[in-house]
Amino acid sequence: MEVPFIDLKQRYEEEKDELLECVERTLENGSLVLTPELGELEQQVCDFTGAQHCIGLNSGTDGLLMSLWAAGITRGDEVIHPPISFIATTGAIHHVGATPVYCDVGEDSLIDASKIAEKITPNTKAIMPVHWAGMMCDMEAIQDVADKYGLLILEDSAQAMGSYYKGLHGGLFGQSGCISCHPLKVWNAVGDGGLLLTNDEEVANKVRLYRNHGTESRDNVVIYGINSRLDVLHAEILKFRLTKINDVIARRRKNANLYRELITTDSVILPVERTDEGYVDSYVMFIAKVDRRDELKDFLESFGIQAMIYYGTALHLHKAAQQYGYKKGDFPVAERICDSVLALPHHQHLEEDQIRFVAEKINEFYG
Ligand SMILES: Cc1ncc(COP(=O)(O)O)c(C=O)c1O
Repeated sequence: MEVPFIDLKQRYEEEKDELLECVERTLENGSLVLTPELGELEQQVCDFTGAQHCIGLNSGTDGLLMSLWAAGITRGDEVIHPPISFIATTGAIHHVGATPVYCDVGEDSLIDASKIAEKITPNTKAIMPVHWAGMMCDMEAIQDVADKYGLLILEDSAQAMGSYYKGLHGGLFGQSGCISCHPLKVWNAVGDGGLLLTNDEEVANKVRLYRNHGTESRDNVVIYGINSRLDVLHAEILKFRLTKINDVIARRRKNANLYRELITTDSVILPVERTDEGYVDSYVMFIAKVDRRDELKDFLESFGIQAMIYYGTALHLHKAAQQYGYKKGDFPVAERICDSVLALPHHQHLEEDQIRFVAEKINEFYG
């Protein structure tokens, strides 16, 4: 039995008719950039998330960069974030000229709010929490620190479409938050795409300018920007897939719950369901912490089961981070977690017997 980590071809099979309608409608329309369809998507995302403003961009990474630009973060400023994330978090901070400052994570892989204060210096301007694997951070605790020290919160909510903390959607706790629509996300385009969410009108207006070369009109450039306009074909597909997102998350949650029931070994720690504590997670990834990770991964692979390491290297230990003077041992919790993480296949197209097979093989591996 083959158990792929993700199956985009199956997604296409399931949605073929609707997706082809999106393509046809877009091409027949003949207008492909910044059309009203993009505005419709943005409004629908506002309705879904509760955001006052949504701006469609080319990627979640652009959302991070524009959050930082709009906040005026620049050379000499410091931004606190966790060493467990996708590299884009640190990359965006670096590219606005600011200094990436790490704060270790807790056992849940999310920034440890109790350790943020010790990282604050007179140069600290913002905290960038990462809702890793679609699991919301403890935003109440993070907001307390931000309020106490007068810091902005700019969320890396790239993975948090469909994630909530105490009723509020990811990306809406601070000044702005990004969303990634990369194909591996629960709500995805057919290539790269992203959004910025904000309740701040001034930020929204700036980001609308940034994404279109700072042009107010064709012959009137008011600031310098870039080209980061979410394509209309993506917008059409994302509109359609927004009607599916709750179903996708529910199917993934069901798969995760089945793993929770079936994996009986103490050598595997699975993420817990946290709805009782006010967290709704998007299940974009289902990352276990396991003993003898690399051996288990190879063992599963030998049975056709594709599990993935997200990620094996904490952000501060990449070669690119050497310029900031970080070294092994600086963030022991993150480093330990990176040595043990293994994301299990849990996507919405899996059948129950595939999940049972994976669980059986994991239990078998640990004897
Ligand atoms: C936590 C995190 N931040 C930022 C990004 C960047 O998003 P994108 O790939 O859409 O640029 C990702 C994408 O995977 C991510 O997972």
